[in-house]
Amino acid sequence: MEGPEEKTVKKIFEKPLIEEPSLNEIMEEVIARIQSLLFKEDKKIPEDIKQKVIKEITDKLPEIISRRMNKIKEEIILESINLAITSRKELLTLYRKEEKKKEREEMFLRFNIHFRIQHMMLFTSVILLILSGLPLKFPDFSPLSFLVDVFGGIESTRIIHRIAASLLVFFMVYHTLYTIFHPEGRRDFILLLPSPKDVRDVLQNLRYFLGITDEKPKFGRFSYVEKFDYWAVYWGCVIMIGSGALMWFQELSLKILPKFVLDAAKEAHSDEAILATLAIVIWHFYNVHFNPDKFPGSLTWLHGRITKEEMMEHHPLEYEEIMKKRKHITDNREQT
Ligand code: HEM
Repeated sequence: MEGPEEKTVKKIFEKPLIEEPSLNEIMEEVIARIQSLLFKEDKKIPEDIKQKVIKEITDKLPEIISRRMNKIKEEIILESINLAITSRKELLTLYRKEEKKKEREEMFLRFNIHFRIQHMMLFTSVILLILSGLPLKFPDFSPLSFLVDVFGGIESTRIIHRIAASLLVFFMVYHTLYTIFHPEGRRDFILLLPSPKDVRDVLQNLRYFLGITDEKPKFGRFSYVEKFDYWAVYWGCVIMIGSGALMWFQELSLKILPKFVLDAAKEAHSDEAILATLAIVIWHFYNVHFNPDKFPGSLTWLHGRITKEEMMEHHPLEYEEIMKKRKHITDNREQT
């Protein structure tokens, strides 16, 4: 059964939305107005002039009407879309979803799943190692002894340090295997090696910061800053794992190595821990979080993607290369 509301809605849509005025109506109105403007009531417009006017109107008016009607229709359609969008939450959510989809399609995968897992393992283990290592170095410093309480005492802090260390070792093994056996791992490792271009980029950046040039250096997949970051962490891990292992397996180490090696390892571990903490807090946090270009940081570490704009801004040479490859693929497809 149709209710009164449905009936009204049906009626509205049965009626044409906009009716074009009939040509006769318009002509009658025009003649009447000319008559009242130019002639007295008792005098009629001469028939030949009337016919001329009518001919003129019949020739030109349909085009004028249709042009105007199209304009009105267009305006009505736009306003209706506006009304529909603002009044319909569902449409808005759908629109936002589509926008997000478009955005995602425009995004570039920078870090694959292996890279992301490795990075997560690295930061989880390093944060835990710093939090559990520093109280061992400065046991009387109250903010750090508070951490010992959180970890459940000095013995469990030592255990947590060793668990986190095992995670870091696992990460290093994973990263080494990834670098050797995965094509993207091999590619990234080669691209992370320092090259003469890095020196040219540093000089270009200095010129840019000093205002001597307006041109920023153009980076490829990894800028010299990212390469520095990578190698600092790489050697940091090698030193911390090496020295930490000697301390962990002290008795065995002393059987194989002279005591001064173990003393040096303890010193290196202790000092590098401060260096690593400061490097992470000052260098890494600035580069990825507090740098005005990146603040407050992105979720790339989680989904691995960056936007087209970020790609063009921070890795323009890699962007150009990807676009060239894509064009090459589509050209080949069109040819076959
Ligand atoms: C970013 C990584 C690391 C940081 C920041 C760190 C930090 C520290 C610090 C500050 C200490 C105290 C040193 C002292 O008393 O002067 C320490 C001790 C120690 N670390 Fe690490 N460490 C890290 C990685 C590792 C790794 C990878 C291992 C093992 C493979 C390890 C094993 C040890 C051991 C066995 C001790 C001695 C703990 C004890 O007194 O029982 N550490 N670490």
